[in-house]
Amino acid sequence: MESVQAIKQRFGIIGNDPKLNRAIEKAIQVAPTDISILVTGESGVGKESIPKIIHQLSHRKHGKYIAVNCGAIPEGTIDSELFGHEKGAFTGATQTRSGYFEVADGGTIFLDEVGELPLTTQVRLLRVLENGEFIKVGSSKVQKTDVRIVAATNVNMFEAIKKERFREDLYYRLSTIEINLPALRERKEDIHLLFRKFASDFALKYKMPTIKLTDEAVQLLLRYRWNGNIRQLRNVAEQISVLEHNRTISANTLQTYLPTGAGQNLPAIIKESKSESDFSNEREILYKVLFDMKSDLNDLKKLTMELMKSGNASEVQKDNESLIQKIYGNDDVSDFEETVDDLSVLAIPEHKEELIDETVTNSDDKYHFAEEIEEEETLSLQDKELELIKKSLERHNGKRKLAAAELGISERTLYRKIKQYDL
Ligand SMILES: Nc1ncnc2c1ncn2[C@@H]1O[C@H](COP(=O)(O)OP(=O)(O)OP(=O)(O)O)[C@@H](O)[C@H]1O
Ligand SMILES: [Mg+2]
Repeated sequence: MESVQAIKQRFGIIGNDPKLNRAIEKAIQVAPTDISILVTGESGVGKESIPKIIHQLSHRKHGKYIAVNCGAIPEGTIDSELFGHEKGAFTGATQTRSGYFEVADGGTIFLDEVGELPLTTQVRLLRVLENGEFIKVGSSKVQKTDVRIVAATNVNMFEAIKKERFREDLYYRLSTIEINLPALRERKEDIHLLFRKFASDFALKYKMPTIKLTDEAVQLLLRYRWNGNIRQLRNVAEQISVLEHNRTISANTLQTYLPTGAGQNLPAIIKESKSESDFSNEREILYKVLFDMKSDLNDLKKLTMELMKSGNASEVQKDNESLIQKIYGNDDVSDFEETVDDLSVLAIPEHKEELIDETVTNSDDKYHFAEEIEEEETLSLQDKELELIKKSLERHNGKRKLAAAELGISERTLYRKIKQYDL
């Protein structure tokens, strides 16, 4: 059996944290079996390497490995993507098509963001897991497949079950064994190690000397909350590597790259002030409202375009029923960003995309209508931004540095905005 160390090297995994080692060890242990695995952990912790390790160390390694991002596929097409469809199963199904479960027979399927699967798809998935059976969309013939499933999620599955967004039976079937990856803030020892690795990678990539942190900057790096985990750390290392002329990075410089939004470790000066933290909450709420408005507008825009181009409003209505439900029935702000992403895809059923394009290019009126909405949306976003910046500057008696830190943007960006809005 390959050692944890060897696997880390082979898959480019950096770190020596015991929890990370345990996760890799578990992956090695379960690889030769066909047990379904659920990989859990916050966004950006490195979940994607686990199914790769499992596949490569299994007897399926010569079979196919297919990674499916369940959150990125529109609800209307996901069954057909996963299980295939018969010719004529729906408008636009001109050919019989094999789904991933047929193609990956003898291999592994990685279901990323599995918590996003629609409930109807969950039923089909449960059946495959239970007896390897599935039915193509529009068919009545039961087919067999031999696929190993590794799933991943960064959402709390118990919450999802409680809210009846995820089937409990499927959850237990998927998570026979759970492999949890620790958040970066729980792996303090690895933070600087990872940063140095990324700094040296980016120095090579951009042909510049490697950046180096001062001792205080290292301390700040360790104190920070890293809500975006390794992905965020990597981005910060990249930005600094590209933008800073002085290759020795002080804590002050590093600070300008670390957003201080809600939940992050704010520098002491901001943390101590009650009124400022109130403002930070206010800002967070405003952001949520803004995102909310933007997403609703996008969806309404798309719906309207569809209604305009389709003579058959009732058909469109049916197609968008779940979408509308999602927009107006969703009162949970915590998973809001995900909703924004997948709504933008959901709004246009795949077989309608070309129709929408036609509308946009053929009818000037309709095109202008869409532009107007876009413009209004941009204007109201600008108003809110302007308001936030003004408030923050007032609060800090015009001190840009403090205002920028509070707004979670760099001083440079704030300076640009001040000029832009002529403040
Ligand atoms: N231990 C590690 N060593 C080096 N790079 C890592 C490590 N873990 C993760 N990364 C890098 O961090 C980034 C994020 O990892 P990954 O895409 O696997 O996150 P994730 O857990 O799937 O997040 P999400 O839930 O948002 O999809 C990737 O670029 C990955 O290469
Ligand atoms: Mg991922």
